Amino acid sequence: MIRSPGMADLAGLRPWLVLLMAMAAASTTADALGMNWGTQATHQLPPKIVVKMLQDNGIKKVKLFDADEETLSALAGSGIEVMVAIPNVLLDRMTDYDTAKEWVRRNVSRYHFDGGVTIKYVAVGNEPFLAAYNNTFDKVTLPALKNVQNALNEAGLGDTIKTTVPLNADVYFSPQDKPVPSEGRWRADITELMTEMVQFLANNSAPFTVNIYPFISLYLNDDFPVDFAFFEGGPTLTPVVDNGISYTNVFDANFDTLVAALKSVGHGDMPVVVGEVGWPTDGDKHATNVYAQRFYAGLMKRLAANAGTPARPNQYIEVYLFGLLDEDIKSVAPGDFERHWGIFKFDGQPKFPLDLTGQGQNTMLVPAQGVEYLSRTWCVINTNAQNMDKLADNINYACTYADCTALGYGSSCGGMDSNGNASYAFNAFFQVQNQKDEACDFQGLAIPTQTDPSTQTCNFTIQIATTSAADHRRSFGAVAAALFVLMAHFFLLLH
Ligand SMILES: *[C@@H]1O[C@H](CO)[C@@H](O)[C@H](O)[C@H]1NC(C)=O
Ligand SMILES: *[C@@H]1O[C@H](CO)[C@@H](O)[C@H](O)[C@H]1NC(C)=O
Ligand SMILES: *[C@@H]1O[C@H](CO)[C@@H](O)[C@H](O)[C@H]1NC(C)=O
Ligand SMILES: *[C@@H]1O[C@H](CO)[C@@H](O)[C@H](O)[C@H]1NC(C)=O
Ligand SMILES: *[C@@H]1O[C@H](CO)[C@@H](O)[C@H](O)[C@H]1NC(C)=O
Repeated sequence: MIRSPGMADLAGLRPWLVLLMAMAAASTTADALGMNWGTQATHQLPPKIVVKMLQDNGIKKVKLFDADEETLSALAGSGIEVMVAIPNVLLDRMTDYDTAKEWVRRNVSRYHFDGGVTIKYVAVGNEPFLAAYNNTFDKVTLPALKNVQNALNEAGLGDTIKTTVPLNADVYFSPQDKPVPSEGRWRADITELMTEMVQFLANNSAPFTVNIYPFISLYLNDDFPVDFAFFEGGPTLTPVVDNGISYTNVFDANFDTLVAALKSVGHGDMPVVVGEVGWPTDGDKHATNVYAQRFYAGLMKRLAANAGTPARPNQYIEVYLFGLLDEDIKSVAPGDFERHWGIFKFDGQPKFPLDLTGQGQNTMLVPAQGVEYLSRTWCVINTNAQNMDKLADNINYACTYADCTALGYGSSCGGMDSNGNASYAFNAFFQVQNQKDEACDFQGLAIPTQTDPSTQTCNFTIQIATTSAADHRRSFGAVAAALFVLMAHFFLLLH
């Protein structure tokens, strides 16, 4: 390698300057990285605590699944860039232009002032064309998208705030007889729809947003080569060769299949945002901290290198990790792992070492500060109970209202005996019910204890105290909201 004069100079630089330069390089990656902040949990951390946690970890972008007032209040003035969202159930209403304008006014324009919320995108729906939805949202999504972007344009915000539709990667594919990325095309039932949608996004300089899940590829197919889900090769890897390009990971292959589909409709250069990508840590044999740590380490390193993909080399990719926190009431229709996507546990405790800047300095992230917990009381099986006949019924009842997904085969609490199972279920229910006395009875089969029943791998959780926090949050939210309205009006008056 030829050493340029610049590099020779670098060798003579003082250590602190080299360090400064390294930090500057690192911050580019952190700038690109966003986090999905989902809230389908029985006990939510107060938004102010979550925002502080984001800041403590250098995270500068979040993607929400709604436009919740308390969340946006907490984000105000933080400088964190936000993608707000219109849930699928509201798409139908957005096909009316006046309703879309009103939505934009109340959930976007209102926060648009100095010290307000830096909204960058509005997600119109969440994976509305998912095959499992049976085309339910096909007719309403595009009209909703158009109305919301047009309303943003009319409000004078269209230059800086773009709409997008986060889509599952199942909207495109490569054919069975030529399963290579360069053959990527839209799913047959939505080809026309996708063509028009891409045109509309292009007309408004809005990005395409896609959710890519290497974990699901592995989960759905036992023959999937494990190493292809990660980024550093390995013994099970057989690269996919496409026109002389060797694909060694499913993320690149999937991304480039989308690029080919975009190309097929004349927009091969459309900006692509990866709306969700991540790895769960429980609820399946492949959902472990070890795999998650490996996946994220590989992904962060790639993103930091700005390597792009074979179809788009040397590019920085805007990525939102899924997700920030575990969510204990997320639907488990796709699988038990659904409630374990967080890089943090439900209470903001980091799960495994991770360097979000991709520099390989994998250490624990900064945990949430000031979290209040319920008392250290668990609920377990009463082994002195006279009659165990109703045990199974009571476990079922507990698991209907609380999260028992850690109990399955290959999960963190799998392989316990039936007493262990019962205790886990009873405790989960007791915590969800905020440790109310009557929530630890189960027809005399359960009893509270001050002794932590957790094992090496299985955590019997103590829930966070949200009742008081939520009340506090509500009053804070109301005051802040009133302030916003005042300030927003003031701002309007000035203009
Ligand atoms: C939009 O704002 C209104 C008024 O504050 C609120 O009721 C509604 O829930 C918000 N929409 C969403 C999707 O959060
Ligand atoms: C979609 O169709 C399948 C098969 O007919 C059905 O089992 C499923 O419940 C439907 N899903 C939705 C969301 O309508
Ligand atoms: C995009 O813009 C072109 C040129 O203005 C226009 O003809 C076309 O209808 C637009 N397409 C969509 C889907 O909005
Ligand atoms: C414990 O619960 C899991 C998940 O419901 C179940 O698969 C397993 O068979 C149970 N074990 C016993 C010993 O009951
Ligand atoms: C269980 O999880 C809680 C909350 O994250 C943590 O504070 C505690 O140390 C864990 N307990 C065990 C035994 O691992």
